[in-house]
Formats: sequence, structure tokens, C-alpha cells
Amino acid sequence: MTRETHLVLGATGRTGRRIAARLRLHGTPVRAASRSSRLWSDRSEPDGWDTVLRDVDVAYVVPPPVPGPVHEFVVRAGAAGVRRLVLLSGRGADGWGGSAFGRHMWSAEEAVRGSSLGWTVLRASNFAISRASGRSLTYRRITRDEHVSSLTGQGLSRHDADGIAAMFALMESGLISGTTDELASVPGRAPRTFEEYVVRAAAAGVWNER
Ligand SMILES: NC(=O)c1ccc[n+]([C@@H]2O[C@H](COP(=O)([O-])OP(=O)(O)OC[C@H]3O[C@@H](n4cnc5c(N)ncnc54)[C@H](OP(=O)(O)O)[C@@H]3O)[C@@H](O)[C@H]2O)c1
Repeated sequence: MTRETHLVLGATGRTGRRIAARLRLHGTPVRAASRSSRLWSDRSEPDGWDTVLRDVDVAYVVPPPVPGPVHEFVVRAGAAGVRRLVLLSGRGADGWGGSAFGRHMWSAEEAVRGSSLGWTVLRASNFAISRASGRSLTYRRITRDEHVSSLTGQGLSRHDADGIAAMFALMESGLISGTTDELASVPGRAPRTFEEYVVRAAAAGVWNER
């Protein structure tokens, strides 16, 4: 069987590096792109995208932090003969309305959905960490302003802190509180329970104090 090249954007990031590793494990040719990858690519310089897209069959796209650029990326991907786009988006994207959170993801979804290429949109969610981490976690309600100043106090920019606060406001509205069966139905196997995940992650030292 011919293995076709998969382009992974954001290939040094949280999701891209795992996807690139998993594809390689399956023997799929991977083109890993980011500013610090061997294949240098800066998404703010669209003229470089054509080189990155040459002979690519499938492209994994992490949305850049501002709305817009994915539209041109999609046009260039189509011209380069890319067959399928896989976009990372966020859970509940079509319910975000006018919230400041996720405009960049929604814009990227519009670009990908509006293209004539095959596409898959992954709407990933966030999840919480508690039992078995070996650390005592308690719930304390804080205001939005306290949350933002706590985040900026930890070094986040005001823009990023506002974005995170807007995300939690959407969560608090109940937008993504329902459950789905997609972790079982998409890959076709039962997912690990949350408890199994936490036990494995804790055993691997993920939450150890550094
Ligand atoms: N992680 C999640 O759980 C999750 C869930 C839903 C949606 N999202 C969305 O996915 C995006 C982030 O994805 P991620 O979490 O996988 O990545 P990430 O960990 O935030 O890393 C960003 C990646 O993009 C690359 N990058 C940054 N600036 C770039 C530029 N100017 N040109 C080219 N590459 C650049 C970085 O590598 P270099 O620094 O080497 O360029 C890195 O590989 C965000 O839009 C976020 O809202 C994430």
C-alpha cells in the first residue's frame, strides 16, 4: 500500500508532536512543520506554504491564534493537490456565539468546511485532573476578575488571560456539559475511564512537583 505524506502543522506543539509520532509509528511519511522544526514554516508568511504543501496528501492544521489565515492556507492546499484537511477545533464551537473565546477556531472551521477538499474537524474538549494525582485539590469559587489577575500574575498576557476567562464563562453556561459517545464510536474501541487515565498519568509522574 502506498503511504501518502501527511503534513503536520504545529508539529512541536501539544497535539502536533503526538500526531506526528503516532503517524510515524504507523509508517506514514510525515512532514513536520513549525518555526523550530527541521522544515521551517512560519504561518505568518503564506508564500512559504506552497513549499510545505508540495506532494502532501493530508494536512493536520492547528488553528493560529487569530481568525483568518486558514482561509488562504486552504486555497493553497487545494491548489497543491491536498486531498484531506484535519482541523483541531474546540468542543461546542457552534454554540460560542459572540464570545471572545475561540474566534480563531471558528474562523478556521469556516475555511475548512467551505473548501472542496475532504475534511475532518476535531472538536477537542478540556478535562480536569483530580483523584490519584496524589495532590489535594479543592474547589474555590472566584470572580472573573480574580481569575484574570491570577493568570496575568502567573505571566500570561492580558489577551490570553481574557481568552481563557471567556472559555470558562462558556463552560459555566453549560455549553459543553453534556456527554458524548464519540471516544468509542470514532475509533471503534472503548475509551479508558477517567480513573484509568488519571492512575496511569499519575504513575508516569505527570503531576510530580518539579
Ligand atoms: N491543545 C488543546 O487541547 C486544544 C484543544 C482545542 C483547540 N486547540 C487549539 O489548537 C491551537 C494550538 O494547538 P496545540 O495546543 O496543539 O499547539 P501548541 O502546543 O499551542 O503549540 C503551537 C504550535 O504551533 C507552532 N507555531 C507557533 N507559532 C507559529 C508560527 N508563527 N508559524 C508556524 N508555527 C507556529 C509551534 O511551534 P514553533 O514555536 O516551533 O513554531 C507549536 O508547534 C490553538 O489555536 C488552540 O486554541 C487546542
